[in-house]
Amino acid sequence: MISHVQKHMTTICLLPGDGIGAEVIPAAAEILDALDLGITTETHLAGWGCFQETGSALPQNTLTAIKRCTVALFGATSSPSGGAPGYRSPILDLRQELNLYANLRPAYSLPVRASRANIDILIVRENTEGLYIRRERWQDADTAIAERSITRLACERIARVAAEHALKRRGMLTIAHKANVLTLSDDLFRKVVRETTEDHAPRVQIEERLVDTLAHDLVRMPERFDVIVAPNLYGDILSDLASALVGGMGVAPSANIGENHAVFEPVHGSAPDIVGKGIANPTAAILSLGMALSYLGHTVEANQMREALTATLASGICTPDLGGTATTADVLAALKERLSLTKNHCSPAC
Ligand code: NAI
Ligand code: MG
Repeated sequence: MISHVQKHMTTICLLPGDGIGAEVIPAAAEILDALDLGITTETHLAGWGCFQETGSALPQNTLTAIKRCTVALFGATSSPSGGAPGYRSPILDLRQELNLYANLRPAYSLPVRASRANIDILIVRENTEGLYIRRERWQDADTAIAERSITRLACERIARVAAEHALKRRGMLTIAHKANVLTLSDDLFRKVVRETTEDHAPRVQIEERLVDTLAHDLVRMPERFDVIVAPNLYGDILSDLASALVGGMGVAPSANIGENHAVFEPVHGSAPDIVGKGIANPTAAILSLGMALSYLGHTVEANQMREALTATLASGICTPDLGGTATTADVLAALKERLSLTKNHCSPAC
């Protein structure tokens, strides 16, 4: 984790949002309480429900609170396909407003039936540009145009983050692109990432893959990949694919990191199909909290929490998406019990 360690900053801003966001973020907050790290939380509104109530999906007081806290844990929001007049996805706005340029999306094997073995991948997604600049227009009644922006600056900074992570991991970096078709924009991404990272060779072994081939290879031989750096949309898609290799959307955490702020969030959305049933998998939100704790310098506790969660899942206590029968509350209770055992067995030195 890139860490501008801020252990003294002890408030995490919680943004549950819509749907199961309002189930998994309180779950993660309970675990944070159980860890007893002296970190407080404050909860603020964002999302579709908030938009319907207040006319804004990201009210000014929410944004001010995130800026003040500097670290936020975001749940999920619902965004209607085709949009709604005046509505803008708050997480996309946050990424741009706070310049959260690096989106880190790990996918690693878990001890559940739904996970394949020997996978440990980090997708480093460029988070501020590409097609997500949301510059779309009608050319005529039957033709919609979307602009895509790739800049040298954004490629350089995401390349540096990806290389730093590759250095700390297994030293392999795969560049995802489609420069055979997008011969300007994706070729710029490809070339700048190569130029920026070549100083790290041979400690970092750099390769590139056309993104469609990469999707194929990720399914066929995921264990061979370490760090994958990708433009915004490819990173979004590949990270959902990677999550499916290790248990699905319910287990995929992420971190949006900028120079001064960081927003952590499960990769999944608001899951309207399971909302209110009490079976949302809290793993992704809790692992996102773990990434936040590492960022804040609580690395030991974050690792202990991850280990306790892994052991909980290994014991068969998992939600239906992972093949189990546990509710969100069951997973929380089991995890809290394990955490209290860890605490009680831990000497003061740890
Ligand atoms: P989704 O991630 O909400 O759901 C996809 C599938 O995964 C569903 O079957 C759902 O039940 C399952 N799933 C997701 N999270 C789960 C969890 N924690 N535990 C158990 N099962 C889980 O994606 P979908 O259905 O495409 O989108 C629903 C809404 O969420 C849309 O309005 C979309 O715009 C929004 N969305 C928001 C995101 C965000 O706020 N960052 C990200 C992705 C989608
Ligand atoms: Mg996505």
